[in-house]
Amino acid sequence: MPMRFALLASGTGSNVAAILGAYREGRLGGAEPRVVIVNIRGAAVIERARACDVPTCTIAHDDFASREEFEAALAAEARRRGAEYVMLAGFMRILGPTFLNAFPERILNIHPSLLPAFPGLHAPRQALERGVKVSGCTVHFVNENVDGGPIIAQVAVPVLEQDDEATLAARILIEEHRIYPRVIRWLDEGRVHRVGRRVLVAGPAHS
Ligand code: GRF
Repeated sequence: MPMRFALLASGTGSNVAAILGAYREGRLGGAEPRVVIVNIRGAAVIERARACDVPTCTIAHDDFASREEFEAALAAEARRRGAEYVMLAGFMRILGPTFLNAFPERILNIHPSLLPAFPGLHAPRQALERGVKVSGCTVHFVNENVDGGPIIAQVAVPVLEQDDEATLAARILIEEHRIYPRVIRWLDEGRVHRVGRRVLVAGPAHS
C-alpha cells in the first residue's frame, strides 16, 4: 500500500518542488503526493505544483472565523484526497489540536536550523546573530510546540565568515531539498520508529 500524503505550503514552494521532482524521478519509493494545499491565494507554490500535475487547493485562513474551522477544512481536504501523512513545507500557520489530532504523529515539518536551536521565524538570521559556526536543517514530527517535535533527520551546514542571511539560507535550502524527499521515502519503507523523544531510522540512515 503506497504511503499517500498531502503537502501544506504558503509561499515559494521550493521544498514542494523538490519533493514532487523526487516523486517524478521515482525517489520517494511508493510514497504518493495527493494534493498541495495552500493557505495564501496566488502563492507561487501553486504554479509549481500544477507544473508537476499534482492537484492544488487553496484554503485561505482569512476565509474562516476561527482557527478551528480553518484547520477542520484543511484536514477534510487532506482526508478527501486520501492522505495518511501531511508534510508541511514552508507552511506559515501554527497548527493547533484540531489539525494535529486529525493526523496524530503523522505530520512532518522542515525547519532551516539545527533544532532545538533557533525555532520560529528567520532561523538563518538568528544563527548569524548568535554567531554559531554550524547551522543546518531539521525534519521533525510536528507536535503542539512550535518546531518542537521529535527530530527525524538533520543536516549540518557550516556558517561561513562571508555569509549573510540570504547566502546562508540558500545553502541550507539545498540540503532541505535533499533531506525531505529522503525522509518521505524512509517513512514509505516503514523504517521510521519513535521511541519517546527519539526517532530511530532502521537500516543505513543516510541511504
Ligand atoms: C524553508 O526554509 C523551510 O525550511 C521553512 O520555510 C522555507 C520554505 O521555503 N519552513 P520554500 O517555500 O519551500 O521554498
